[in-house]
Amino acid sequence: MTTDFTFQDRADKKKYVERMFGQIARRYDFFNHFLSVGFDYSWRRRAIQVLRSRFPNSPTSAGGGGRGVDSPAILDIACGTGDLAFESLTQMPGAQITGMDLAQPMLDLFAQKAAEKHLTITIEKGDVEALHYADNSFDGATIGFGTRNFTDLLIAFTEIHRVLKPGGVFVNLELAKPRAFPMKQLYRFYFDSLLPLVGTLFSRHNSAYKYLPDSLRKFPDLEALGEIMTKAGFREVKWETRTAGIVAIHSAIK
Ligand SMILES: C[S@@+](CC[C@H](N)C(=O)[O-])C[C@H]1O[C@@H](n2cnc3c(N)ncnc32)[C@H](O)[C@@H]1O
Repeated sequence: MTTDFTFQDRADKKKYVERMFGQIARRYDFFNHFLSVGFDYSWRRRAIQVLRSRFPNSPTSAGGGGRGVDSPAILDIACGTGDLAFESLTQMPGAQITGMDLAQPMLDLFAQKAAEKHLTITIEKGDVEALHYADNSFDGATIGFGTRNFTDLLIAFTEIHRVLKPGGVFVNLELAKPRAFPMKQLYRFYFDSLLPLVGTLFSRHNSAYKYLPDSLRKFPDLEALGEIMTKAGFREVKWETRTAGIVAIHSAIK
C-alpha cells in the first residue's frame, strides 16, 4: 500500500510541503511524540550533544580546550514548532537561536511555545534553498526531520555552508532506513501500512501520512547524504545511527 508522490517540479513540491505542514501544524507535536513512541526526545538530545561535541573548544572535540562555546549563534532550519531549538537552549542556555521555516502556522506555534517558556528566540519565515542571511553568520546550523522535505539537497546544503562561519558546525537529524533484520521489515510495515492507516483514522490531512513514507523511500542513504554534504563544501562529514538505524545524525564542519 504505497503511494507515489510525483511533483511537477521543485516549486510544486515546495508548495505542497508548505501547505501540508501548515495544515497539520496544530497536531504536529502530538503526532511527532506519538508516532515515535517518545523516542524523538532522546534523538533531539543526542543531535545537540553531537553539535556541542564538534565545536572547536568543546571538552569532547579533538584537541578541545575544555571551555566549551558559551553563546553560539545557532540557525535552526526547518525549525517547525521549535523542539530542536528548545533542546539547544537546554544544553546551551546562552545560545542565540534563530529558527526559520517555510510554514507560518508552524512558526506561530513555535512563537507561542517560546513565549510560554519565557525564551527569547528569533523566529522567521524563510526557505533553506535561498537563505536571507549574510555569509559567515552562524556558529552552528541544525535541522531536525526537515531535510526529507527539501527539493534540492545540494542547493540547501550549499546555502547552509555559506551562512556558517569558517569552523561552524552543521548537524542534520533525519529518519533513516534500518538495514538489518528484523527492524528493516518492521519499519517497512510501519511506514508503508500502519502509518497511512493511523493517518487516515486520526487525521483529516491523511495524505501527509502517505507523503511521509514516500519521502523516506526517495531519500538518499547514509553514504549518499554524506557525499552531498561534502559536495556542498563541508569537511569531516560523519554520521551515527540511533535506535537500530531508525534515525541518523550527520554532522560536518565548514
Ligand atoms: C517534520 S517538520 C520538523 C520540525 C522540527 N525541526 C522538529 O524537529 O520537529 C519539517 C519542517 O520542515 C519545513 N520545511 C520544509 N521545506 C522547507 C524549506 N525549503 N525551507 C524551510 N523549511 C522547510 C516544514 O515547513 C516543516 O515545518
